[in-house]
Amino acid sequence: MSAALRGMTEDDLTAVHALEQALFPEDAWSEQMLREELADQPRTRHYVVAEEAGEIIGYAGLAAAADQADVQTIGVKEDRRGSGVGAALLTELLDEASRRGSVQVFLEVRADNDSARRLYERFGFVRVGLRRRYYQPSGVDAVVMCREMRPKRGPVGFTREEA
Ligand SMILES: CC(C)(COP(=O)(O)OP(=O)(O)OC[C@H]1O[C@@H](n2cnc3c(N)ncnc32)[C@H](O)[C@@H]1OP(=O)(O)O)[C@@H](O)C(=O)NCCC(=O)NCCS
Repeated sequence: MSAALRGMTEDDLTAVHALEQALFPEDAWSEQMLREELADQPRTRHYVVAEEAGEIIGYAGLAAAADQADVQTIGVKEDRRGSGVGAALLTELLDEASRRGSVQVFLEVRADNDSARRLYERFGFVRVGLRRRYYQPSGVDAVVMCREMRPKRGPVGFTREEA
């Protein structure tokens, strides 16, 4: 993968929204919705873009509150898929969830989205539920997936030393 990841800013919104419309023609978020997500950074949100030769070719976002996090979105430009960009974006979201102390990370994925489901399974997500006819107007089900995060190590300096 030759793309570099960096934080998403308001300046990226036009490009990200254009990509959003191409990736999710049925239920794309509006630019205003994306702007509102960014407005909550870094408090409850973490959004990143993958950039290659000055072009945004992917993006992803995490929502985190208390000890739970949710993958809000993830997408890679069609002609740039299959080279690890999606994996890099998801790794960044999971690293951020870990930094924030999330215990579980949830997401919803269309039941017919095999490539995304394979990516999530590869990263340890397991199916925990189904929301019937969640996506409209197609009526496709949403599969709810969850990944348990490993417990963090205790603070350094509190292990008991043998005499
Ligand atoms: C889901 C999505 C983000 C995956 O992005 P991606 O960049 O293609 O992801 P990766 O490249 O990490 O992995 C995709 C495949 O390429 C393979 N791959 C990754 N790097 C590779 C490499 N260097 N050489 C060969 N294959 C590679 C992976 O093993 C994986 O194979 P699989 O689909 O058979 O399991 C992308 O398909 C997408 O944007 N879909 C449309 C939007 C969407 O549905 N988002 C999810 C909403 S829930």
